[in-house]
Amino acid sequence: MTITVAIHSSKGGTGKTSIAVNLAVAFASEGLDTCLIDMDLRGPSLCTIFKQTPRFWINDFLSGKCTINDTLNDMKKKVKSSGHLYLSYSNPDITQIRELVGKDRAWQASALKALMNVKKDLAQKDIDIIMIDTSPGMEYESINAVAASDIVLVVQNDTDACNYCTEQLINGVYSLLDKKYAIIDNMCHFNCLENIENSRYGAAIIASIPCMCDVPMRSKKEILVLTDPEHQFSKSILRIKHWIEKMQ
Ligand SMILES: Nc1ncnc2c1ncn2[C@@H]1O[C@H](COP(=O)(O)OP(=O)(O)OP(=O)(O)O)[C@@H](O)[C@H]1O
Ligand SMILES: [Mg+2]
Repeated sequence: MTITVAIHSSKGGTGKTSIAVNLAVAFASEGLDTCLIDMDLRGPSLCTIFKQTPRFWINDFLSGKCTINDTLNDMKKKVKSSGHLYLSYSNPDITQIRELVGKDRAWQASALKALMNVKKDLAQKDIDIIMIDTSPGMEYESINAVAASDIVLVVQNDTDACNYCTEQLINGVYSLLDKKYAIIDNMCHFNCLENIENSRYGAAIIASIPCMCDVPMRSKKEILVLTDPEHQFSKSILRIKHWIEKMQ
């Protein structure tokens, strides 16, 4: 069965992309055919991380110019995973981003329809898991990604503003859309490994990841879950992965 997981947050810079990339690689390394879609259309980062320029972008698919299969780039050989790791990139070109910001409701509605069909299309390709990296907050495209997913992981940092907005997303969006959801606390400054809360706003907290100085520098050159499985960040990723597996 194909399962779709959106990685969302109320605020920017909470660690969504880092978590999405490492999770996708962890699933593919275990032999699951995995697809990671960059739906952060306003702040694309996957094509920079994987250093690729694809023939078709996810933007082309959402605009009806190609199929989802046309956008997929298999990174199985590059990451040496046993399962396929398909990447679908968002276009970082500034004119493309500006064009997107001006899209009207009708375009967003047809983009949502296309996104809702992705699971069916990728199930035919025997993809086991689809991860969607989103833009933060309540932009159309991030809510579309949430709507098209089975599970939402909301990544938050320990600030009052982030807490307040996460609560609103849970009560005002995820619950209303009848999604399964959980919280990931990331970049915790307190001793989160000892003071573990189980739930907040009625959502399970499935990982509390400390703020670790080496993560930003190392993540520029390596995918920690591959190169350093004993790292605290990698261990947290595996904990999140087990939680997703239990939800199926
Ligand atoms: N646990 C951590 N400890 C320290 N730094 C971290 C941790 N997790 C992520 N980071 C760093 O935080 C920065 C932001 O991470 P990332 O780009 O994954 O966030 P994001 O939520 O995707 O941001 P955006 O909303 O802009 O897309 C990166 O430099 C990343 O390496
Ligand atoms: Mg990101």
